[in-house]
Amino acid sequence: MRKEWDKVAGDARRVLEGNRQRGVSAWGGQRYDFVCPSPTTYPFQWFWDSAFHAIALLHVDPELAKQEIRCLMQGARPDGFMPHMLLWEKSAHEAALREYSITLADPFYTATIQPPVVARAVLRIHEATGDTAFVREVLPPIRRFFRWLKAYRDPDDDGLVAIIQPDESGLDASPKYDRLMEISHDPPEETLPRLRRSMRRLFEAYAPYRSDPARIPALGTFTWEDVMVNAIYADGLRCLAKLTDLAHEAEEFAARASRVRAALETKSWDEKTGVFWDLAGWDDEPARTLTFSSLFPLILEDLDPRKATRLIDEHLLNEREFWLPYPVPSVAATEPSFDPTWRTNTTWRGPTWINVNWYLYWGLRAHGRRDIASELAERTVRMMASSGTREFYNPLTGEGQGARDFGWSTLVLDLIAAEGGNP
Ligand code: GLC
Repeated sequence: MRKEWDKVAGDARRVLEGNRQRGVSAWGGQRYDFVCPSPTTYPFQWFWDSAFHAIALLHVDPELAKQEIRCLMQGARPDGFMPHMLLWEKSAHEAALREYSITLADPFYTATIQPPVVARAVLRIHEATGDTAFVREVLPPIRRFFRWLKAYRDPDDDGLVAIIQPDESGLDASPKYDRLMEISHDPPEETLPRLRRSMRRLFEAYAPYRSDPARIPALGTFTWEDVMVNAIYADGLRCLAKLTDLAHEAEEFAARASRVRAALETKSWDEKTGVFWDLAGWDDEPARTLTFSSLFPLILEDLDPRKATRLIDEHLLNEREFWLPYPVPSVAATEPSFDPTWRTNTTWRGPTWINVNWYLYWGLRAHGRRDIASELAERTVRMMASSGTREFYNPLTGEGQGARDFGWSTLVLDLIAAEGGNP
């Protein structure tokens, strides 16, 4: 095991170094210095990727972890909005840009959000360094973003935030959105072109309202309360409550964190199947496609222990659904859309991702299941030792897929450290 740890950790460090982008942007002459997800496929700065990179960088140099967040904060807008992509070197990557389905809010950033992992990253930096000056520096824009989410993305005021297009969860082509996006896994070569067409339709519907972002979720075109996004949101609020030194704010954020968790338990939990379902549209219709998202409230320490046990014992450890040779697949193997071999040539439709394993690892530990957490870490490391630091992996064979030298797969450094290795 030690030999595998060293090999995987060495490769992760190489990726974190090799993917660094540094320079001065045509965007107001701002300096940028961050780790990109992949120099070839994803040469820009992405919101949740950077938060994961910061956590991995803590095991290389805590100053680089802070730098990653500082660079990201340069994209924060005065009203609290934080874009999912910052296009620092826009002119150098026209070809990559043509591949994406995105809407720009400005020539240098998108009009889209991604899950607010950033609060957890800052808490981790604080725990590792004790640097309160850093926290004071970055907290104001992050706090504004969490207030923005509440103000602009909870039109029915139930505590759960809504996304307005699939990639706002970061899970761009997850089959859970297929019905609303009018796409299908069959024939596989049609999935991606159909997704692109549906994204264009959404963008056209939103175009007249871009100057008034509160209107868009209220349109109900794609108003989606995503379990993973809301679990990360609740976790982020809990982190903010720990980070702030204002007592009234700590109370506010802790209360909001509990409210989001309670809303998930009341509205998304399905007692019959023992999982959480995303809620689609104004009618909150449960989207019953079994993906890892349905297990994600496990990351919340205050989740009802009975529900946590059901998620783990009936689903995560179920060898027909999620406990495959190289867990955790993004889609349960029992789903007709499960695509481990990447036939649809698009993301989040079956393969295993390291950021998901990282979150679930800590969720398992939070719920006292250290043995399973260790087993998950061990299988993750074994898979990466033979396949490298890839974007995602075939959950049946462990074969690497997608981009090579992929940024957030370096989160494995945190797993190795947590398992007592030397990252
Ligand atoms: C893909 C992923 C998204 C990620 C981005 C950059 O679009 O679906 O979650 O942020 O790549 O890695």
